[in-house]
Amino acid sequence: MALLYILFILCITISTSAAARTALFVFGDSFVDAGNNNFINTTTLDQANFPPYGRTYFNYPTGRFSDGRVIPDFILEYAKLPLIPPYLDPRSYRYYKIGANFASAGAGALVETFQGSVISLQTQLIYHKRVEKRLKKMYGDAKATNTLSKAVYMFSIGSNDYMSPYLITNSTHFNSSNSNSQLVQIIVGNITIAIKRLHEQGARKFVFLNVGPLGCSPGLRIILNPPNDSGGCVEQASLLATLHNQALTKSLKTLAKQLHGFRYLLYDFHHSIQQRIKHPSKYGYKQGKTACCGTGRFRGTYSCGGKRPLKEYEVCKDPKEYVFWDSYHLTERAYNQMAHQLWNQQNLKTFFD
Ligand SMILES: *[C@@H]1O[C@H](CO)[C@@H](O)[C@H](O)[C@H]1NC(C)=O
Ligand SMILES: *[C@@H]1O[C@H](CO)[C@@H](O)[C@H](O)[C@H]1NC(C)=O
Ligand SMILES: *[C@@H]1O[C@H](CO)[C@@H](O)[C@H](O)[C@H]1NC(C)=O
Ligand SMILES: *[C@@H]1O[C@H](CO)[C@@H](O)[C@H](O)[C@H]1NC(C)=O
Repeated sequence: MALLYILFILCITISTSAAARTALFVFGDSFVDAGNNNFINTTTLDQANFPPYGRTYFNYPTGRFSDGRVIPDFILEYAKLPLIPPYLDPRSYRYYKIGANFASAGAGALVETFQGSVISLQTQLIYHKRVEKRLKKMYGDAKATNTLSKAVYMFSIGSNDYMSPYLITNSTHFNSSNSNSQLVQIIVGNITIAIKRLHEQGARKFVFLNVGPLGCSPGLRIILNPPNDSGGCVEQASLLATLHNQALTKSLKTLAKQLHGFRYLLYDFHHSIQQRIKHPSKYGYKQGKTACCGTGRFRGTYSCGGKRPLKEYEVCKDPKEYVFWDSYHLTERAYNQMAHQLWNQQNLKTFFD
């Protein structure tokens, strides 16, 4: 009897102290995915669960599109929380109280983006709803509601919506029946819907990464025809990113006026990447344009790991010297610098107090 009582007290103590922590829920694409695509039926284009992915930090491929950790991993570390497995990992339910990661490489704000190969943002929201139900079952309505309203909701979404037309046609000709501004409106419109839905479910604290300088990724630079070895960017893609970021900024300002208790941080991922590409040495890198892992010019052919259509690839000796890890994604070092800036300069830490 006494033992049961002690166990009971112990459980209460663990659950109340854990309930006091701030959880992190992550939505979006490969910049924040912790490996959900390891668990879906997709192609290796949307997976990174083979070497040399993960080699710097984990020493094994986790499914993250990096040589190590990605931004949310560093945020969890700064918040003194353990790493959370991807939502589709069967063990993830044990971590719901400290968060969940729904992100899926290749996903966009539009259902149509790489449909069938990724977990769309819409499906990610359905998964979040399932976590909500499970939390209520495990800890009761009051505690679950408290966890969800105190939690931080992090987003990286949009890049794939703009990139997919280039990647599918493999040309600089942007094939969309919509004009640029219509396309941006539809994409930001869908992001806005997702935010409103989460807010209705009690979410209050949001963090967004905007869209990077897409046309300057090694993977897009190489589609320039004629090839430009001095390193031009695909202007049209970068223009879309800029238009998107302006529209996102505006939409968030509007939401802050409309939605009760809505707080947000917008991290300028675009500026951070662009500065590192232009001035690599200022941030401690040797190479800003060429990827560490891939094939050909700028290592822009997306072959890192040799499991995609092209089997040959090169990998650099020291990823720390590079901004880009593969043709589209960044090194752990770059993600760490950005997470650090987000946590300290942009005061993300106050969201976790
Ligand atoms: C996975 O997708 C492929 C191609 O779409 C399909 O042929 C296969 O049956 C799917 N496998 C499973 C287990 O769903
Ligand atoms: C461009 O898009 C249109 C309409 O979506 C489609 O019919 C056409 O085949 C596409 N062209 C290329 C080259 O992909
Ligand atoms: C969301 O995206 C769909 C296409 O997937 C589009 O038809 C719809 O208009 C978008 N919604 C908003 C509010 O922009
Ligand atoms: C190559 O890119 C550089 C830098 O953007 C630009 O100045 C130059 O005109 C480009 N060359 C060609 C042939 O497009």
